[in-house]
Amino acid sequence: MTPRSFRATLLSGLLCATLAHAQDAPDGKQISIQGANGAPACITCHGAHGEGNPAAGFPQLAGIGARYLAEQLEAMANGSRVSPIMAATAKALSPAQQDAVARYYAGLPSPLNTDRLAATAMHPVKPADTGAWLATRGAWDKNVPACNQCHGPGGIGVGENFPSLAGQPAAYIAGQLRAWQQGQRPPGPLGLMPAVATRLTDAEIDAVSAYYAGLPAAADLVATQSPANQGKKP
Ligand code: HEC
Ligand code: HEC
Repeated sequence: MTPRSFRATLLSGLLCATLAHAQDAPDGKQISIQGANGAPACITCHGAHGEGNPAAGFPQLAGIGARYLAEQLEAMANGSRVSPIMAATAKALSPAQQDAVARYYAGLPSPLNTDRLAATAMHPVKPADTGAWLATRGAWDKNVPACNQCHGPGGIGVGENFPSLAGQPAAYIAGQLRAWQQGQRPPGPLGLMPAVATRLTDAEIDAVSAYYAGLPAAADLVATQSPANQGKKP
């Protein structure tokens, strides 16, 4: 073999290996649109842009941390996070497919207006307003910090580990808090959420879930009604 043809063989070999690798790597977007291995397309429930479906109780996925989402898929697949609706879907995906689809959703723009939501953390709150009070002040008489301390002002989420809460369906938020109370969801980082959830009453869970579910609409209302914005488009 001449040095030249050797180089050509080497090069085409490398090229084939790269192409084969690209074909092997699962495509998260494709999984979201078409499903995979018999698992249904994610978009049918989680929306075309991962925005979720509040009326049906399907959570938003767009813009949430990739590692968090992948861990949830794994937990729903192995049953440590009990989810009758997601178990079979999560199980059908290989670990590489779970990672790929988690990365795809993490990379989609969040539908949340983070500036408006963060501004809600400054709104005046009365203690009788249980949901808003828990979210912004906590319940220190029983060692519950404000949810916003970890989930960000207005529940917009913080980094990889603290998912956003704003705009998630109320039934979904309440369901997760009760799952931690009943040991039906893994404790997650440092067991922070079981410690919070087990200290909340049923009424507090319902109130704080409704508060975060309605927060994007409330934030929009305040922003468009504030005198500084009169005459401006929303
Ligand atoms: C039939 C509707 C449906 C389909 C299809 C579906 N999901 Fe879900 N998904 C849900 C529901 C409902 C939940 C909330 C979990 C629960 O209530 O048990 C959820 C939860 C999740 C979560 C956890 C979110 C969080 O914030 O913790 C992830 C991640 C997820 N789904 C990813 C996917 C992916 C990826 C696909 C496609 C391969 C998919 N889902 C397909 C309904 C669906
Ligand atoms: C000390 C920090 C901390 C505080 C305070 C906190 N959380 Fe969390 N929360 C977390 C972490 C960490 C996770 C991710 C858990 C995991 O990875 O499984 C989480 C996850 C959640 C989830 C799941 C989101 C999803 O997409 O499935 C809900 C719902 C939630 N928290 C609600 C609340 C509420 C309501 C409060 C206030 C009453 C609160 N949290 C206070 C740290 C905190």
